[in-house]
Amino acid sequence: MWYTRPDVIHPAPRRFAARLTLVSLMVSLSACVRRSAPIAPTGHTPSSVAAAPPDLGSLRALASTQKRHVGVALATWHFSEPHYQEVAAAQFNSLTPENEMKWESVEPQPGQFSFRAGDALVSFAEQHQMRVRGHTLVWHNQVASWVKRLSGDQLHSAMINHVTASVEHWKGRIAQWDVVNEAIGDDGALRQNSPFTALGPGYIADAFRAAHAADPSAELVYNDYETEGDSGAKSDGMYRLVKELKESGVPIHGVGFQMHVDPRNWPSADSIQRNLERFAALGLFVELTEMDIAVGELPGTPEEKFTRQKQIAHEIVSACLRVPACVGITFWGLTDPQSWLSDEHWGRLRGRGPHFPLLFDANYRPKPVFDGVAQAFRGE
Ligand code: XIL
Repeated sequence: MWYTRPDVIHPAPRRFAARLTLVSLMVSLSACVRRSAPIAPTGHTPSSVAAAPPDLGSLRALASTQKRHVGVALATWHFSEPHYQEVAAAQFNSLTPENEMKWESVEPQPGQFSFRAGDALVSFAEQHQMRVRGHTLVWHNQVASWVKRLSGDQLHSAMINHVTASVEHWKGRIAQWDVVNEAIGDDGALRQNSPFTALGPGYIADAFRAAHAADPSAELVYNDYETEGDSGAKSDGMYRLVKELKESGVPIHGVGFQMHVDPRNWPSADSIQRNLERFAALGLFVELTEMDIAVGELPGTPEEKFTRQKQIAHEIVSACLRVPACVGITFWGLTDPQSWLSDEHWGRLRGRGPHFPLLFDANYRPKPVFDGVAQAFRGE
């Protein structure tokens, strides 16, 4: 089964215990108090030390107990910020490069590849026993401008070359690829504003086949947004697409639901669960790949907004955990100011900001939404 891969889940590495920030220490302590964890007897022997329960103060430790991944999107340009690397490694067991594996970064000129920033993220993940989700091979956005001038056979072969070179470069080091991202429009058909659509629907199957040939052990995913609910033209269109791919033997293994939550209009947790289940019934694993919850348009005081944000996160993470095939949840950034929705251009998509959409505040302090996620992982 694709979705039972306990071998890829790693417990929080011991060496981080010594490097826990005050932040995660506080989280650990409060978690211990809440769970009234057994206190280790004094004068224990070395064997009782080995049998000690894992420290469940981090999200990654909690997720590991559920055999799931909990991930974060990272960018190397934040690496010099104090606490960034430390908190990411302490809390998450999966990493998605937020931008640095997109076409415009990896192949800015035809055949000229630039893997350095992606390599740095992969090395960081390896150092900290984090899985890597490669993001993304074929997408109409952040594609190099030279690609937009191609069509027909030239575009098709540029796509195959790009997929092959990227996947081969990171072969064995990237567990899971978003092979095709956001190919579907709101009406459920292939989107109008993608240069790839003119190649016909076969381009999607071809991209998956090329990725599989380049690394037969990588998990291959179709990823999209606003397909989280179990009805609607776009969700149904995605269902038809991946069903067709799966039934015709195309090497697709999973479906990614971005989960950029717009609380003004979002499916219920039940609808999300039913949707995850219908995709899982096709024999695919499912993941929530880019979660954030924008609170700018929620009514009330900041405190009320954060309480609602916590509830929403708790409901959605719990819905995922009720579905055995839902193997991971990734948050789209680490701290609020680093979120794409804190950029005015993107933030507008979610109405009036500020949106404070992530788990940590500007000072790397966990917000109420962090507790909502931790509680869901603890089954509370
Ligand atoms: C976003 C990044 O977070 C931004 O930094 C960038 O400017 C634009 O792209 N869906 C996706 C992601 O699949 O790649 C997008 O990431 C957010 C929406």
